[in-house]
Amino acid sequence: MSTPIKHFLQFKDFTRDEFEYLFERTRIIKERFKSYQQYWPLQDRTLVMIFEKASTRTRLSFEAGMHQLGGSAIYLNTRDSQLGRGEPVEDAGKVISRMSDIVMIRTFEQDIIERFARNSRVPVINGLTNEYHPCQILADIYTYIEHRGSIRGKTVAWIGDSNNMCNTWLQAAEILDFNVHVSTPPGYEVEPERAGLYGTDHYESFGDPMEAARGADLVTTDVWTSMGWEAENEERMKDFADWQVDGDMMRVAAPDAVFMHCLPAHRGEEVSAEVIDGPQSVVWDEAENRLHVQKALMEYLLLGKVA
Ligand code: CP
Ligand code: NVA
Repeated sequence: MSTPIKHFLQFKDFTRDEFEYLFERTRIIKERFKSYQQYWPLQDRTLVMIFEKASTRTRLSFEAGMHQLGGSAIYLNTRDSQLGRGEPVEDAGKVISRMSDIVMIRTFEQDIIERFARNSRVPVINGLTNEYHPCQILADIYTYIEHRGSIRGKTVAWIGDSNNMCNTWLQAAEILDFNVHVSTPPGYEVEPERAGLYGTDHYESFGDPMEAARGADLVTTDVWTSMGWEAENEERMKDFADWQVDGDMMRVAAPDAVFMHCLPAHRGEEVSAEVIDGPQSVVWDEAENRLHVQKALMEYLLLGKVA
C-alpha cells in the first residue's frame, strides 16, 4: 500500500516536530535567497494555484516561491476555468492533480478543499478558506521567532473577528504551546468546533479588548469584514467600532510586544495608522515571510525532510 499523501489543509495537519523542522528550513532557505544562492530542488515541478477569492500576497508568494525553487506555477481562477461553471470539485481534483505536482487552493468552505484533496494524487495546500489560513499563521509564527525567539509560553492577543485567522491561531496555540487571548464583539465569538480545537487549555476569551491585550507578547487583528461576508459590512462597521488596535491598546501590552496583521489592512478601522506604521509593527517582515515559509512548505511536501 502506498503512503497517504501529505496535505496542509489546516494547521493541525502537522505536528510540533514538523513545524520545528519547517522553521529551521525556512531560516536556511531565506538566508540562501538573501545571499543570491541558486537553490532549485523543485526543478521541473509544477504548482497549480486555484483562486476562488482575490489575493495579492498569496499569489505572489507562491508563484515567486515556486520559480525561485526551480519549478513553475500556473494560476487558475473561477472566472476563467470550468470551476466557475459547476464542474464538480472531485472531478477537478482528479484532473488537476494528474497534470501537476502540488496544488494550492484559496476558496470558500473548508469542505471544498477537503473534497478536492481526497481526490488529489498530489499534496494540496490551503491558501485560505472561510475557516482557516494556515500559511499565514506559519509566516506569523516564523516572524515572531525571528524577532523575539520561541513562541512557546507566550501570549497572543487576538482583537476582532473570530475568522479564519483567529481559528488558525487557536489551532497553532494547541500544537506549539502558547496562549491566545481573544476579544470579539458580542455575537462574533469563537465557535470551538468550527475552529477545529482539540481543547480549550490555550485559549481565553475577554469581553473587553483592552483586557485581552494586557501583558500580551503579540497583538494582532484582521479586517472586520472578511472575503465572503461583504453583505454584512455596514453592520460590522458598527459592531466592531470598539475593537480597534490603537496606541492605548499597545501601551497595555508587554513593553516589547509586536503588532501583526496579515494584510490587507484598513487604517482607522481594525488598526490605527499609529500602530500599523509604528515601531512595534512587524507587518512587512510578516508579509515577506509568506514567501520563505511557503518555499520550505512546498519543499517538505514534495521532497520530505531533506536535512
Ligand atoms: N494575507 C494574505 O493572504 O493576503 P492576500 O489576500 O493578498 O493573499
Ligand atoms: N480574514 C481575511 C484574511 C485576508 C487575507 C479574509 O478572509 O478575507
